[in-house]
Amino acid sequence: MSSAFDAEKRLQLLIRFGNEIAHEPRLDKLVSLIGEQVREILNADRCTVFLKDLKSGELWSFFAQGLERQEIRIPGGKGVAGLAAQSGDIINIGDAYSDPRFTMDIDKVTGYRTRNILALPLRDNRRGIIGVFEVLNKRDRTDFTEEDEGILQLLGAVAANAIENARLYENLKSAQLETIYRLAMTAEYRDQQDTAKHLRNISVLSYLLSRAMGLPADDAEVIKLASPLHDIGKVALPDAILLKPGRLTGPEYEEMKKHTVYGARILTDAQSAFLRAAYRVAAGHHEKYDGTGYPDGIKGDDIPLEARIVSVADVFDALCMPRVYKKAWSADEAFKHITSEAGRAFDPAVVDAFVTVFPYARKLYEPEANLDEITRKAEYMLASAGKKVKQA
Ligand SMILES: [Fe+2]
Ligand SMILES: [Fe+2]
Repeated sequence: MSSAFDAEKRLQLLIRFGNEIAHEPRLDKLVSLIGEQVREILNADRCTVFLKDLKSGELWSFFAQGLERQEIRIPGGKGVAGLAAQSGDIINIGDAYSDPRFTMDIDKVTGYRTRNILALPLRDNRRGIIGVFEVLNKRDRTDFTEEDEGILQLLGAVAANAIENARLYENLKSAQLETIYRLAMTAEYRDQQDTAKHLRNISVLSYLLSRAMGLPADDAEVIKLASPLHDIGKVALPDAILLKPGRLTGPEYEEMKKHTVYGARILTDAQSAFLRAAYRVAAGHHEKYDGTGYPDGIKGDDIPLEARIVSVADVFDALCMPRVYKKAWSADEAFKHITSEAGRAFDPAVVDAFVTVFPYARKLYEPEANLDEITRKAEYMLASAGKKVKQA
């Protein structure tokens, strides 16, 4: 029997659970939040959230306390989690090692000793199984009760709903990202060999510069999405100018500069935040901080922030990549060029941010560069640098 205090505490935890998961759209953050809270509410030692791999039917550990770096994969119908997913029933086992449904495989790998288990299948809106909650070892050396089962069922229903929403949101975002890349590639396809690489590098660099300037992750994400469209206006340039091997004549150069104007026209009156940012980037990425750029010759903070950021990313990446008319510069040579242009071509604040992230930016040009890892490490560095500043 739970005491009045326990009931009160549980209720508070449940309210907090509902509130917190309602405000987290990112799937990875959401699932780890759910895992932490379920463990606390059920007073258990560990909680694992398995999601079902839609292709193979396997369960894989999206979140597992004590196993953060290791992924567990369970074939359909195997182990307690597999059985819960297959039968659709909640499974409550008091003594794992004497129960034939339990397999010791995972304990053998992790060195953990499972005593008791509560496993609940998670269902989506159409009642299909999308995963399993597994809660291990009730604290105070007791077993999971019927009340625990009821609470886990309640939490499971709320969590499954949130997971499904976050998945839909992520699918939408990745479809959007892919569309942007493919759209941007049509613009750069004719005159560059490494279009895809250039666009991905620019996205990462723009994101890191934005973060190093102190912009929140959501705003940096918008600039990251917008940046590949900077040269979208090139689709309107004739081959004779875009693909001309030699130097452009005066009038040809004037026409080439118009890719900024064409880009702005393509993106004008956009509805979404990132396409509006893309408009400002396409129009302003060749403006210079001292007012000597094009098409409008605006200067300083009159140039939209997104354009000031992407112009540093664009020039740095263009220098580091080989082109028909030039070899690739080394990252150090390109670094010198960017810093020497602070206050002239570039906003000094963006150049400061560039200096901060340069140790990570240069890794983009190493063979087999892992863009996600570079981003993660740079963000970690920025976060710890931020902490140091606050403590000082
Ligand atoms: Fe451009
Ligand atoms: Fe570019």
